[in-house]
Amino acid sequence: MKIYKTAIIGTGLIANAHVKGCRMNPERVSLVAALDVDANKVKDFCANYGIPGAYTDLDELLEKEKPDFVQICTPPHLHAELSIRCLRAGTWVLCQKPMCASLNELDRVQAVEEETGLYCASNFQNRFGASCRHFKGIIEEGALGRPLVGICNTLWYRDHAYYDVPWRGKWSTELGGPTMGHGIHLMDMFLYLMGPWEDVTAQVGTLDRNIEVEDVSMALVRFRNGAMATIINSVLSPREETYLRLDFQKGTLEVPFHYEYINRDWRITLVDPCANKELAQRLRSFPDNNFNHIGSQIKSFVEDMDNNARPITSGQAARETIEFLTALYKSAFTGERVTSGSIGKGDPFYDKICGMDPRIHTVR
Ligand SMILES: NC(=O)c1ccc[n+]([C@@H]2O[C@H](COP(=O)([O-])OP(=O)(O)OC[C@H]3O[C@@H](n4cnc5c(N)ncnc54)[C@H](O)[C@@H]3O)[C@@H](O)[C@H]2O)c1
Repeated sequence: MKIYKTAIIGTGLIANAHVKGCRMNPERVSLVAALDVDANKVKDFCANYGIPGAYTDLDELLEKEKPDFVQICTPPHLHAELSIRCLRAGTWVLCQKPMCASLNELDRVQAVEEETGLYCASNFQNRFGASCRHFKGIIEEGALGRPLVGICNTLWYRDHAYYDVPWRGKWSTELGGPTMGHGIHLMDMFLYLMGPWEDVTAQVGTLDRNIEVEDVSMALVRFRNGAMATIINSVLSPREETYLRLDFQKGTLEVPFHYEYINRDWRITLVDPCANKELAQRLRSFPDNNFNHIGSQIKSFVEDMDNNARPITSGQAARETIEFLTALYKSAFTGERVTSGSIGKGDPFYDKICGMDPRIHTVR
């Protein structure tokens, strides 16, 4: 099997998890270089992890190392431009969330995918827990019946000091609050499991942090299959919990966790366990879970490279989630119920996820 050369762009906090993810795939991935605009930071990062190439200039890295794929770990507002430069230089891209600032930027990235024949995937690592993909297959078969009700809560806590980092808390650089920056992972996993969304009604507020973006958002969602759900994204919740719940005709799947769920975190409740013994056994037959989620996504990504196949968090799948977040903000800022497919060119929310003039509910 081919070993793919990779480079990490941006050597801050999350880059450490990407190194770990690469090291979980030693037979598939060779981490040959890293880049940061801060020369000392990238030097220390490379020395710490034994990465041979330390760079501060992207063109030089791409030219000299010719990586097969890059992992973009910079602040959010740089993701689309960096992805486009890397695709045009001939590399596949695995880009940290949010992979773009708007649907407009997403369309630009996807146009360059078409131009180059290469793919840019979003780091939506929650989809890659072994149990999530296990349940996805069973849900798609219809074995649990139709999905009816869902809950998707990312209740996290980020103190005031967290927002001292200059790019955080601003529309122009972080691109949103806990909706765009934290709950995006669980919402992506939720949409993946529930199926296509139909419309969303939402509110956002800035209740306690001294930031431009929201510190809490709440949404009501209807799915094309008729299911209904609630979503909360918060950075104001001292007892942190990530909680996902899907109620089907035949049973409930739920998982309370923090950053990464593991197989034993899941609770499975069937309406009639005696009559559904076989289903219960299938649901509980989890595959092994030896990887962390970023490592598991990298494994899946290089398998897609082997097959020249579109990664499952790129293209229309990435669009489904980014469009949902855009619709959530549009609903919050306009008071409208926003339907899937309705935000196109000419709509201010197509160009900017918060529209042109976000009138946020602020209580401070
Ligand atoms: N998937 C997850 O679970 C997860 C968790 C945390 C952060 N993130 C995402 O990862 C990204 C980075 O977050 P972080 O917390 O690591 O940020 P950070 O501020 O710790 O690191 C960002 C790094 O990028 C560097 N940088 C800035 N501009 C650059 C450029 N033009 N080229 C190269 N490097 C540049 C900075 O110097 C810094 O070292 C964000 O998009 C964030 O939302 C994802």
